[in-house]
Amino acid sequence: MKVKGKHFRTIWLKKGEEETVQIIDQRNLPHEFVIEDLKNVKETAKAIKEMHVRGAPLIGATVGFGIYLASLSAESNKEIEEAGEKLISTRPTAIDLGWAVKKQLEEIKKGNSLEEKRELLKKNAQKIADESAEQCRKIGENGAEIIKKISEEKNRKTVNILTHCNAGWLACVDFGTATAPIYKAFDDGIDLHVWVDETRPRNQGARLTAWELLEHGVKHSVIADNAGGHLMQKGLVDLCLVGTDRTTFTGDVANKIGTYLKALAAKDNEIPFYVALPSSTFDWNLRDGKEIPIEERGAEEVKFIQGLLKGKVKKVLLTPEKSIAVNYAFDVTPARLVTGLITERGICKAEEKSVLKLFPEFKK
Ligand code: MRU
Repeated sequence: MKVKGKHFRTIWLKKGEEETVQIIDQRNLPHEFVIEDLKNVKETAKAIKEMHVRGAPLIGATVGFGIYLASLSAESNKEIEEAGEKLISTRPTAIDLGWAVKKQLEEIKKGNSLEEKRELLKKNAQKIADESAEQCRKIGENGAEIIKKISEEKNRKTVNILTHCNAGWLACVDFGTATAPIYKAFDDGIDLHVWVDETRPRNQGARLTAWELLEHGVKHSVIADNAGGHLMQKGLVDLCLVGTDRTTFTGDVANKIGTYLKALAAKDNEIPFYVALPSSTFDWNLRDGKEIPIEERGAEEVKFIQGLLKGKVKKVLLTPEKSIAVNYAFDVTPARLVTGLITERGICKAEEKSVLKLFPEFKK
């Protein structure tokens, strides 16, 4: 997508220096646009854990590149495999990490010398990123049909969409998952407006989704996390559209903390609640969403808040210094609250039969 008119992805090999991977360091957005160099697996793991990069598809792609970087100094397959384990352990809920490691480890089996393996891993990391971007583009095409239908039903009056966290292009390689249909419908001339949940504690909505939408010229309003239910009761939300970090093949959806409450409110107000995801975000082994590991992050993310002060990005203490804070990063929305799943292969119901009809290769 474009930043000040220039096309960017969220991750790429440095031009003319392909032993370095470059990312957009998202920690200081929207106030500072910083590009960071990653040169080894340690820096890559840190970038994922400390959320320089975040969002399930992007961390998957970053892991792909991280394994390539690990191979540059590795002397054996075992060292590369260990790098994979280290990368997987950085963020437990998002399943795309494990998916990317698996894809890369399959690749090293094809090469003989370490030199050959490095070349294969570089090409495959790029392929993972390219395919991920293409999946999101297709999610955009499929999901835009839902928005267009609502627009027709409303006689082309503004379609109001509520989204949570950042499931935008910054969370992916390009286009986004939940935002891809929004960008596609907007580019096709549909009148729409997005309610952007601020998404405490890290405020990915207020900082990242708002920035993306602004850059693309999409009308939006940032709202406090607790405002969604009220807006739904007032008839001001036509559609909820969110991403996910892991979705069981039975349709239970893990996503940023607070998603479940929005789904409950949407159900109570008979508002469609769609989840957009590439196939890499399905967990083909888990039947019950209750078994999805929920990442717990540091209390300081809840206790402090970050913003711009006199031109500089600063963190300030929000709570009493001695208060204990707890920080569950994700929750699980049961399939019964989900209207449908928007994937690169089409839209399906959040239920086993419908999911496996789209992805028959995962039938057991
Ligand atoms: O903790 P984060 O910022 O990595 O969480 C991201 C989300 O929860 C997104 O909504 C999800 O990954 C979908 S991203 C396309």
